[in-house]
Amino acid sequence: MKKITIWTLLCLLPVAGWAQKKGKKKAEPIMPMKEYVDALMSQMTLQEKIGQLNLQVAGDIVTGGAMNTDVGAKIAAGQMGGVFNLKGADKIRELQDIAVKQSRLGIPLIIGMDVIHGYETIFPIPLALSCSWDEQAVETAARIAAKEATADGINWTFSPMVDICVDARWGRTAESNGEDPYLGGLMGAAMVRGYEGISRGSDGTEVRGSENMLSCVKHYALYGAAEAGRDYNTVDMSRLRMFNQYFPPYKACAEAGAGSFMTSFNIVDGIPATANSWLINNVLRRQWGYDGLVVTDYGSIGEMLVHGVGGDLQGASAMALKAGTDMDMCAQGFLYTLEKSYNEGRITMEEIDDACRRVLEAKYKLGLFHDPYRYCDAKRRARDIFTAENRKAARDIAAETFVLLKNESPTSSPERGEKLLPLSPSGKIALIGPLANDRANLAGTWCVAYTPDRYLTLKEAMERRLAKSSMGDAAPRLLYAQGCNICHDEADQQAGEFGKNIPRVDGEQAKQEALRIAREADVIVCAMGETADMSGEAASRSRLEMPDAQRELMEELVRLGKPIVLLHFSGRATVLTWEQEHVDAILNVWFGGSETAEAICDVLFGEKSPSGRLTVTMPQSTGQVPLYYNHLNTGRPVAEGADKFFKYASNYLDVRNDALYPFGYGLSYTTFAYSDVRLSQSEMGVNGSLKATVTVSNTGNRDADEVVQLYIRDLQASISRPVKELKGFRRIHLKAGESREVTFSITRQQLFFYDGNGEEVLEPGDFDVMIGPNSRDVKAARFTLK
Ligand code: BGC
Repeated sequence: MKKITIWTLLCLLPVAGWAQKKGKKKAEPIMPMKEYVDALMSQMTLQEKIGQLNLQVAGDIVTGGAMNTDVGAKIAAGQMGGVFNLKGADKIRELQDIAVKQSRLGIPLIIGMDVIHGYETIFPIPLALSCSWDEQAVETAARIAAKEATADGINWTFSPMVDICVDARWGRTAESNGEDPYLGGLMGAAMVRGYEGISRGSDGTEVRGSENMLSCVKHYALYGAAEAGRDYNTVDMSRLRMFNQYFPPYKACAEAGAGSFMTSFNIVDGIPATANSWLINNVLRRQWGYDGLVVTDYGSIGEMLVHGVGGDLQGASAMALKAGTDMDMCAQGFLYTLEKSYNEGRITMEEIDDACRRVLEAKYKLGLFHDPYRYCDAKRRARDIFTAENRKAARDIAAETFVLLKNESPTSSPERGEKLLPLSPSGKIALIGPLANDRANLAGTWCVAYTPDRYLTLKEAMERRLAKSSMGDAAPRLLYAQGCNICHDEADQQAGEFGKNIPRVDGEQAKQEALRIAREADVIVCAMGETADMSGEAASRSRLEMPDAQRELMEELVRLGKPIVLLHFSGRATVLTWEQEHVDAILNVWFGGSETAEAICDVLFGEKSPSGRLTVTMPQSTGQVPLYYNHLNTGRPVAEGADKFFKYASNYLDVRNDALYPFGYGLSYTTFAYSDVRLSQSEMGVNGSLKATVTVSNTGNRDADEVVQLYIRDLQASISRPVKELKGFRRIHLKAGESREVTFSITRQQLFFYDGNGEEVLEPGDFDVMIGPNSRDVKAARFTLK
């Protein structure tokens, strides 16, 4: 067929969709999106439409060689709508060149990447980010990630991940916002806003700047409910639970204007999500009114056959298209079978057109039809990526995500009465642990484009910090020893490394070295826990305690009787029951991104007070999971805080029901006190509102942030409702000695629930309003909804 580009094509259109603006070199599309895409699609063959639905990884493309690859050839043949996970604006430009100059219609590619928590400036893992309870910070992190990624050619990220996770065994908890639907929705929406920066053009269409990119909400849906926390495993749940507990974050992101959604690997009601028409066509599109692009997860159309659904690739592909999926990531089922299915009458042209339209609309929204090279500005790399400004933001945000779990005066010197943290930068500090001198792991699990050589290790950052504060003879000294391996078993360690290797050491020799420096020191700081890839995709664990080799070393260090701090690295809720009992201070630092080491020093030495609060419940024992604060009550509950076993009640023989650290929990270097909850009235009409107020006081001697949390319980509904649900929070800054009133407004918005069809229901009856510093330590008041 004769080569014809969009540029010539659209200039010829009777509606004159393309105009040359005076003084500007490039033509600008003036047609609204729908007309533009209609005009383009009217020129497309069936094969070209199907080609747009194909998304593949770019492979190992080297600059100058793209055309010789399978991907290059497919792009030229119009068989590719987009590519992903290719780093480098030069390589991306080369692929875009092929699309624009060699394919018949010159339709530009959409360029994806898993930019999950930063590009080269890496932010904390999403679970950590959620622990900041700071939507603005999360939005900023996403905005900077978008600025860096778009400076390097990327215009589509596969983030945010908003799967609810209540089972800490599941490694992908690290990528999520934790267990709460309300908080998860807010954080997801903040990320969407940060990535997309949507504004409206004069005709009302969405406009994104060249520093913004399309987000992709994943994994739709319910992926976090994989049985037994084993990745990719079966999901089976009631519709009530879906609508009330698992769907809200996806819905919140759709409402925030997310440009795309990704289907999940799991089944929903027996049908793989990728081909589940109820999930995509009914709930997402009709019920929530979502009209953006839906892409599959990696190869998930092919995996339908392994689930035993769809028959063959052709059947699975047709089923996925009919269910409302638009783009096939990596299975190539759409590319190779949809034409045949169309010819056999198994799918319709309307279904193909709908999918193709959504892919083209995504490209239109990104401005790619205006300028296919919009994201390939070679000058931007030096200007926008890994800048001092971006790194400063990442460091500040990282410090906000650390959760102080314990801080006591050292058992070795209780008479001092002072809490162990912040550490005074004097004397000798023994820094011990396999994560103490590593740079790759601190960044976290998902960092495709990261540049770890430029990140500091904790040891390096502490040395610098201590050098700054050294004073002559009293100079502090940092002693360092790796001390142990991640775990005794080499294969287990490797399984959790995924390229971010930590050198194996001789266990006995390393231990002796650690004990030697610990004996010499005034305080021991352990940098221990998981490696970055012991969480994330395909990283489930069946035991959530500290890995054996590290725990054994800690036991020996504790026996020395010196003050001991645990800097605990993890990508999930873990079990720290032993550590809570034996260690003086525990700071959970997750994986804080490229600036982790500096951010830890900021908090460890007291420049900043820790203000992170858990967004996952931390159990006392792995056997308690799934464990989450917003559970239903059962007919035979055991009171919170009960300290013994009750026969014929809902509890365990060998562990109490309570969390070790509840949802919302986190200490500070100061202390806060809460007044009782005051309600503006004790009754409220269904269309009315009331106010709940507490006075929060900073009773310590440091200025600090507190996260004031509002929980609600519906006591008399037609279905069983959770014992507590987060419905609001406020992050406030209080000076030492300062008090402030915090007021929450309660309307139907905080009180309704969804029925099994996803309809909102508001029922009269009694409600408890609870406010406090975490989900356990709340003050309550009751009102009646009339
Ligand atoms: C993951 C997705 C990711 C995709 C593309 C899949 O294995 O489940 O979260 O976006 O790969 O890399």
